[in-house]
Amino acid sequence: MRLLVCGGAGFIGSMFARQRVLEHGDEVTVLDKLTYAGREENLRELEGQPGFRFRRGAIEDPEAVAAALEAGAAEAIVNFAAETHVDRSIAEPDAFVMTHAIGTYVLLEASRERDLRYLQVSTDEVYGSIEEGTFTEHSPLAPSSPYSATKAGADLLVQGYLHTYGLQALICRGSNNYGPYQYPEKLIPLMILNALHGDALPVYGDGMQVRNWIHASDFAAAIGHVLEHGSAGEVYNAGGPDEEANIDVVRRIVALTGAQASQIEHVADRPGHDRRYSLSSEKVRALGWSPRVRFAEGLEETVSWYRQNRWWWEPIRSGSYRAYYERQYGRPLGP
Ligand code: NAD
Ligand code: TYD
Repeated sequence: MRLLVCGGAGFIGSMFARQRVLEHGDEVTVLDKLTYAGREENLRELEGQPGFRFRRGAIEDPEAVAAALEAGAAEAIVNFAAETHVDRSIAEPDAFVMTHAIGTYVLLEASRERDLRYLQVSTDEVYGSIEEGTFTEHSPLAPSSPYSATKAGADLLVQGYLHTYGLQALICRGSNNYGPYQYPEKLIPLMILNALHGDALPVYGDGMQVRNWIHASDFAAAIGHVLEHGSAGEVYNAGGPDEEANIDVVRRIVALTGAQASQIEHVADRPGHDRRYSLSSEKVRALGWSPRVRFAEGLEETVSWYRQNRWWWEPIRSGSYRAYYERQYGRPLGP
């Protein structure tokens, strides 16, 4: 396939681009704005690969989208481009509205004009929080943060386009991802790097919030599988095999890094914090996908990756991330 992968310089998009080029022989054009979260270094392994090209540009810019589609003669668009951190959406929601609402609209128009297959990458957070049981594709959307509300808005726009114009569109919703190349603002890489540096490990509230963890290689594979085998007009959930309370995740990281349990600090809770996410994946499993990586093994590998890839995180941890951390946590990171 010839694919336009929007947001392909981020954590999951770059995993997807690597899988499609190296394992499936697809031609991939990445279009990415390179926000603080996007880095060309994430695509280093693809430099010089046949059919791979990178273009810097925003999905809300129709000219940049048209030029990228033409450069790669794309047959399908896969949209990962997003602002992805709930805490940033609480502090500064503007970019979330621009990228998720206007950006998705521009990509849908481009798909409609050219009759392209379109896959929207989405999240379990659009369903809101669930105390017991698990969300299916039929669960109502009940988002609770500016991040999840704007992601839900994008999903609804996709559904409006497929219903009204017969667009060949699909939506794939994932649970919490972890793995290599994840920006350290998120729970797992933040705790790994803080643990390795002797910094405090800031657990929001009581730490009993539960997340359903999926390795990014499994979510990227699910997206590829849905793109190839899914029916247009359908939503597919892809959840990981394990759920765990945040405090237990942090305790595992303390053990894997050799940090001290005394580094764990309970700090003020996130406003509107969702208590639990849980996603049923029966529909995509019926298409032939299943997750391969269990959390215990994937977390151990992830800790090793961060230990071995200082080149990747050192420029982040010494750059603008420091100022973000100080604003968010009210204290500086250690040296
Ligand atoms: P990320 O923050 O690591 O990367 C996002 C990428 O999008 C970056 O490369 C950024 O530069 C790019 N981008 C942002 N705004 C853009 C714009 N306007 N135009 C072009 N590029 C833009 O995110 P991620 O964790 O890889 O998430 C990718 C997708 O997967 C998102 O749609 C997210 O909602 C979804 N998702 C993420 C998770 C998770 O746990 N990380 C779980 C389920 C779904
Ligand atoms: P996060 O990685 O931000 O993902 P999401 O909010 O999309 O689930 O957070 C995962 C969980 O970890 C969430 O319940 C919030 C919690 N958390 C902390 O306790 N401390 C932190 O410093 C961060 C970033 C998250």
